[in-house]
Parts: sequence; C-alpha cells; structure tokens
Amino acid sequence: MELMKAANIVKDYMVGEVAVRALNGLSFTIDPASFVSFVGPSGSGKTTLLNLIGCLDKPTGGTLTVAGTDVAALSRKEGAAFRGENIGFIFQDFNLLPVLTVYENIEYPLLMVQSLPANEREERVMKLLDAVGMLEQENKYPDQISGGQKQRVAVARALVTKPRLVLADEPTANLDHKTAYMVIELMKRMRDEFSTTFIFSTHDPKIVGEAEIIYTLEDGQITGREEKGGGNCG
Ligand SMILES: Nc1ncnc2c1ncn2[C@@H]1O[C@H](COP(=O)(O)OP(=O)(O)O)[C@@H](O)[C@H]1O
Ligand SMILES: [Mg+2]
Repeated sequence: MELMKAANIVKDYMVGEVAVRALNGLSFTIDPASFVSFVGPSGSGKTTLLNLIGCLDKPTGGTLTVAGTDVAALSRKEGAAFRGENIGFIFQDFNLLPVLTVYENIEYPLLMVQSLPANEREERVMKLLDAVGMLEQENKYPDQISGGQKQRVAVARALVTKPRLVLADEPTANLDHKTAYMVIELMKRMRDEFSTTFIFSTHDPKIVGEAEIIYTLEDGQITGREEKGGGNCG
C-alpha cells in the first residue's frame, strides 16, 4: 500500500477578505521507503504542501491520506499525536536547541513523545550518532559545530523516533553546494538503512538531481514528474 496519497488537494489562505490559492489541485501518491523531492521557485507552494503532509495545517479541499489516516479529519490534538508517532522534521535553519549538546538534541524527541527505558534510549541515540558520523562530537554544543554538521544532527534527531516519513523543507538552503550535496546523500543513506521515506523540498536544481522521484511545482500545481532509473530495489 502507498505511504501517502493526495487527491486534488487545494489550499487557500485568507488574506483579509481575499482567498489566496497556494495549492491548486495536487494529486500524487508516494510509496514507502521513497526518496522524493518537490522542486519549485519561491512561492510555488513547497512549504504549504509539506505543512499539510506534516499535519501542521489542513487542506481547504481534496483528500490527504498518510499511512492510511485521513489527516485532514484529525483534531489538533490527534494531529499532534499522529505527527509525533509517524513524522520527523528537518528544517532549513537546523532548529537545534543551543543549550543542549549534540547528544541531547538527538535524544530530545524521545523525551517528548515516546517513553523508552533509559538504556534503549541511549542505544538509539548512539546508533544514530554513529550513522550520521557525529559520534566524536556528541558533547559539543550547536555553536561549536559547522552548518553541515548541524544538519547531520538534525537528520539524526528526525529519525530517532523511528518515523515512517521525514519531511525536510529546503534542508540545504543554508549550506554551500558541496555540503548540501553531502546532506542529501546522508538522507538517502538513512533511507536505505532505515527504510524511512524522505520528502524534501528545494529550489536548487543541482540538488534535486539526487532525488529518485522529482515533482516540479509551479504556482501551486504539479507541472512535472520525473523518476530516476537505476532502481533501488532493496
Ligand atoms: N500564511 C500565509 N498567508 C497568506 N499567503 C500565504 C501564506 N503562506 C504562504 N502564502 C502564499 O502561498 C503561496 C505559496 O507559498 P509557500 O508555500 O510558502 O511557497 P514556497 O515554500 O514554495 O516558497 C505564495 O503565494 C505565498 O505568498
Ligand atoms: Mg518555503
């Protein structure tokens, strides 16, 4: 079964009395363990779409099903619970907590949304620290590491609750090209290792080539879909 299905999603924002249409009838499905990008210029609707998928906002029309759940029908509280259980987030500006170490930043979602015995918690954090290559930095604070390292920590933090889906809204916008490329490659490796679906947005055509399925967004509509060959069957 598909991991998510969007059917004719519409999203309007009210600006005073006027409805501004940000998404204008999007339909697509995404399979489990996919590595998907939405690419489009500023204002094309990327953030709006990821906010809907992440249950941070609701569509004005159409249906959106994530992991078999009609997310538009969830109450605010149900949406938050659904998010905590199923979705990890990576942000453009990293959003690490400055007073917590690298280790503690990765551990943080486990303390917030899942109750695990301390030894299991430690095991999970250590495994992810290792997976993203940050074991040696575990006691450092965010202001002591580079932008690329911060985003690696954020990737680990997004995965620590074992979500089905990780959403990354322009995760490379604040990184130089080489570092951006490395962060996307890391996300892809994490998809391979944990079979977590990754959906990221970007306006950078160079980065988008790393995705396996690429949707082009323009003015709130999907204007293209490209699937890369070389099939990853595992
Ligand atoms: N909170 C809001 N209120 C009104 N209009 C908005 C709001 N957020 C986004 N928009 C509009 O919706 C469209 C899509 O925006 P957005 O999803 O932020 O695009 P992107 O992330 O691709 O830059 C734009 O025209 C933007 O101005
Ligand atoms: Mg945006």
